[in-house]
Amino acid sequence: MKQTSLLTKFPLAATREPETIYVTRPELPSLEAFIPSLQKIWDSKILTNGGPFHQEFEQKLCEYLGVNQIALFTNCTIGLVTALQALRITGEVITTPYSFVATAHSLLWNGIKPVFVDIDPETLNLDPSKIEAAITPQTTAIMPVHCYGHPCDVERIQAIADIYGLKVIYDAAHAFGVQCHCGSVLNHGDLSVLSFHATKAFTTFEGGAIVCPDEKSRQRINHLKNFGFVDEVTVVAPGINGKMSEFNAALGLLQLEGIDRAIALRGAIDKRYREGLRKVAGIRCLQPVDEIRSNYSYFPILVQGDYPLSRDALYQKFRDNDINVRRYFYPLISDFPMYRGLPSAAHNNLPVARKVAQQVLCLPIYPGLRDDQVDRVIGILTERRF
Ligand SMILES: Cc1ncc(COP(=O)(O)O)c(C=O)c1O
Repeated sequence: MKQTSLLTKFPLAATREPETIYVTRPELPSLEAFIPSLQKIWDSKILTNGGPFHQEFEQKLCEYLGVNQIALFTNCTIGLVTALQALRITGEVITTPYSFVATAHSLLWNGIKPVFVDIDPETLNLDPSKIEAAITPQTTAIMPVHCYGHPCDVERIQAIADIYGLKVIYDAAHAFGVQCHCGSVLNHGDLSVLSFHATKAFTTFEGGAIVCPDEKSRQRINHLKNFGFVDEVTVVAPGINGKMSEFNAALGLLQLEGIDRAIALRGAIDKRYREGLRKVAGIRCLQPVDEIRSNYSYFPILVQGDYPLSRDALYQKFRDNDINVRRYFYPLISDFPMYRGLPSAAHNNLPVARKVAQQVLCLPIYPGLRDDQVDRVIGILTERRF
């Protein structure tokens, strides 16, 4: 006679594995809500090249973000490469080593030499007090990053740029919807470049945009992102293909409807982390800087010397507990093989960035993250059993 296993009869509900917690998950509209847009695309057969969804998305984005002009892109990286082309940047550009590699890669794609300058220990953005010493006769621009969506010291950076006649291009990949004391942070510098990648607070699967001050600069950027074409038979520059498709633009329009709610949900998680970690010795949370409205895209913590575990041991502990955290940004850009030979990549030039890259962990944060999941993350950081 066949024996029924005890396990089959009484499944081990009580020992269920804890669910995986992701570091981020995209917030999407319902598929049903997207179908009418897809139907329109299928009916019109207009798939790209500045179609109706593209035009409407650009206009609605300008209104939402509080900016003058926007040129949509396939992604932020092509946007950065194009922004440098649009302003005819050459020679050397001052930038941060504490960012995603695309920031510096966009310079190499233009044959420009990156010059790394250290970051501010509080904001983790380019330290304005160290910029002037890095300027040479070859310097033509500064490319700062609003790291984690925290605004750079835009006024001091602009003052330096004005004195030395430099352009400023912000890598604003993290800064969707961020407002500082004088309105959108995206209105600073000559150009700002956004990312709508799947991991960002606002996503169109892949996507990006350049925020431009006026129609003239937008027009040049529009030519550059369309192979340099100005009409059917005229090509004015060795442009690239950076055009956003109708699919991504239609999705973006729908995403705009949910973005305020998504940011509010992120804000509540940020608050819960801050309260839960307030008294944990050795864990430092970044303070919100001079901003009126954050987008809470990331929740970085710095694991300091008085915490009982090293950053990497803590990272492993999270992984062992099925919680995905990220060492973002580690390694520094300046440590990758194509950059480490530069004089500005030298160890003693970037002490703050080096220290922070060894301490940072980004904790899970996304609109669908439940309170009990946030508490599980906090529990890993606060439990005394190591
Ligand atoms: C600071 C920064 N710059 C640029 C990029 C590149 O963005 P995209 O993936 O849209 O090209 C990213 C993406 O993660 C980023 O974090």
